[in-house]
Amino acid sequence: MTHLTESPREAAEALANGHLAVLPTETVYGLGALAEGIGVRRIFEVKGRPEWHPLIVHVSSTDALSGANAWARDVPAFAHDLVEAFWPGPLTVVVPRSNRVTDAITGGQDTVALRSPAHPLAHEVLRMLDITTGSIAGVAAPSANRHGAVSPTTAHHVARDLGVYLGAHDVILDGGPCDVGVESTIVDCTGATPRILRPGSIGITDIEHVTGLHVSDEASDVLAPGGLAAHYAPNARVRLINESELGNVDAGVGLIAMSNIATPAHVVRLLSADDVEAYAHNLYAALRDADQQGVTDVVAIAPEGNTGLADAIRDRLNRAAAS
Ligand code: TXA
Ligand code: MG
Repeated sequence: MTHLTESPREAAEALANGHLAVLPTETVYGLGALAEGIGVRRIFEVKGRPEWHPLIVHVSSTDALSGANAWARDVPAFAHDLVEAFWPGPLTVVVPRSNRVTDAITGGQDTVALRSPAHPLAHEVLRMLDITTGSIAGVAAPSANRHGAVSPTTAHHVARDLGVYLGAHDVILDGGPCDVGVESTIVDCTGATPRILRPGSIGITDIEHVTGLHVSDEASDVLAPGGLAAHYAPNARVRLINESELGNVDAGVGLIAMSNIATPAHVVRLLSADDVEAYAHNLYAALRDADQQGVTDVVAIAPEGNTGLADAIRDRLNRAAAS
């Protein structure tokens, strides 16, 4: 049985001893190992993830971007502006890696993805590890789901998905349901201007406002396998539809939509959100619910608008539908 705890100290100790700790963040739960430790290899085993797939490194503060213990080098001014504005928070920057970052983390790429999470328990764990290690600690932590599956937004989701793969010394730190509910915005900071590799709650306008730069929508040549077409998929088949197609939906199909859209007779309502924040917050639980309830077909009507969150929801639904 995997150990569930609410103690950040227990999680920090597990990590310091080379074990895995699942950490709550404000986006989704992450499967953590000390980035310079022996636990990194086990992340790939537990997730069933290909080894060339790079890992996000979580850090306590913006100090990770400069100085002797930095995890990055040659960080452009606009990346500093972004982390000063949005850390701790749901923003990941891809920057050139320092020699602290191993090939095991980056899959051999010469860049690293860094994020400082805002969840108080994750933050506490990172601060404890800074003290234990006497430097800015790095915790590699991809989303705590099996490769390609739906990300977890509660400790219970993690226990159900990964419980059988975790070891006796690994822990799950329970920090309650994740606030945002979809993964961080990933910004490629290796070019002259920022490029979004994965949409999240921090949107294009937020990034342009802070950096004073135009966010390029050219395809990035940086490899971001989270950008694989098929991802975030439940067992159920997911289809994106327009409201006008709702009349043709069969009985027993699951529906994910804003609350102003009524549920047709015999359709299983999986999500009914009053605003885009609630849509994101509940989306992954709704996709999981479909599987729990034995619903094999789900239709989703995406929210409107061009905020970061609306973009992120459409992105995840499209990928879930591509599987
Ligand atoms: O909100 C989040 O970002 C969550 C929480 C736990 O922090 N983490 C997360 O990790 O979503 P993961 O591994 O599921 O997604 C991270 C994405 C992957 O698609 C990975 O390919 C990409 O970040 N990535 C990691 N390192 C990269 C790099 N050096 N260059 C480009 N993309 C990178
Ligand atoms: Mg993931």
